[in-house]
Amino acid sequence: MKKIEFKTVIQEFDSAEELPQNDQDLVNAAAGAVKTSYAPYSKFNVGAAVLLQNGVVVTGSNQENVAYPSGLCAERVAVFAASAQHPGIPIESIAIAAESKEFEVNFPVTPCGSCRQVLSEYEQIYGRNIKVILSGHTGKVLVVEKVEDLLPLSFKADKLKK
Ligand code: THU
Repeated sequence: MKKIEFKTVIQEFDSAEELPQNDQDLVNAAAGAVKTSYAPYSKFNVGAAVLLQNGVVVTGSNQENVAYPSGLCAERVAVFAASAQHPGIPIESIAIAAESKEFEVNFPVTPCGSCRQVLSEYEQIYGRNIKVILSGHTGKVLVVEKVEDLLPLSFKADKLKK
C-alpha cells in the first residue's frame, strides 16, 4: 500500500479589487450575468463568465425549472454556450459571481460536482489549465489555477476505451 496525496493551492484575495485587471474584468462580466439568472425557486442568482483563448467572453447564469433537476447551473450554461458558439477554442478561465435578494452573498460561491466534471473535460480536451475565479457579491475571492485541483480523480474519457 502507498498513500497518494493531492495538493491544492488556492489563492485568497480580500476582495475582487485585489485581483489582476483581467481577472477583475471577468468577475465583473460574471456579476453582470447574474442579472440574467432565472432562479425563482432558490432565489440564489448566479452568473458565470468564460474567457476563451481568442479573447471572447461568453456569459451564462443559472436557469431553474419547476421540475427542479431540469434546471442548470450558471457555470454549465456558460461553458456549454461557449463550446457551442466557439467550437474548438480553448477556455482560459471562468469567473463565478452570485447575489440573492434574501441575504448578502459575502462569500465565494464554489461550483457543484457536476460543473467541476464538465469543466474538467474541457481542460482535458484542450490540454490546458482552466483558471477558476470564485466570488460572491461582496467579500473574499478565491482563485484556483486548474479544475483538476477542484476535482482530483475525475472520470476521464480515455477510461471508456481499453
Ligand atoms: N448554482 C449555480 O448556478 N452555480 C453554483 O456554483 C452553485 C449553485 C445554482 C443552482 C441553483 O439554481 C441555485 O444556484 C441554488 O443551488
